[in-house]
Amino acid sequence: MTAYPDWLIAELRSDHAGETGAVMIYRGILALCRDAELRRFAERHMATEQGHLRLLEEVLPPARRSRLLPLWRVAGWLTGAIPALFGPRAVYATIDSVESFVDHHYQQQLDRLDAEAIFPELRAMLAKCQEEEVHHRDEARERHGGVVGAVLRGWGALVGWGSEAAVAAARRL
Ligand SMILES: [Fe+2]
Ligand SMILES: [Fe+2]
Repeated sequence: MTAYPDWLIAELRSDHAGETGAVMIYRGILALCRDAELRRFAERHMATEQGHLRLLEEVLPPARRSRLLPLWRVAGWLTGAIPALFGPRAVYATIDSVESFVDHHYQQQLDRLDAEAIFPELRAMLAKCQEEEVHHRDEARERHGGVVGAVLRGWGALVGWGSEAAVAAARRL
């Protein structure tokens, strides 16, 4: 495996934690949701997230992964299961919030790699993941119709805040 600088290892640790959580979001949705269309959406997205997780596993050795992975799994599962209790619109709005966050998260890493002009292969891999996250976001947004009420906006803000906190923790632990 390539020897990456510490800042980049910390970023990859947060990516790996995030993709672990992403797979679990869809497990949480699939555990509780009966809507056939949403189940197909979740199964398709979960396969993509498992692909992302495998890519991150290839570049981040086990010893450098987050020590809080069990926590990210539970948090991810709840992030999918809670809105699933309220129906497809709540789930699509949640995925929109999560993926909007993930888009920016990957973008700041791409910006730094570009600024330092390093690791073009890794950059391409992260850009590919980001592109697929943006696609997930757009698909979810189209399905919830773009306009959500105050409760879902509040939940979306909470999810964004939680993601921010999780990334900050996963960079360190
Ligand atoms: Fe992903
Ligand atoms: Fe995603």
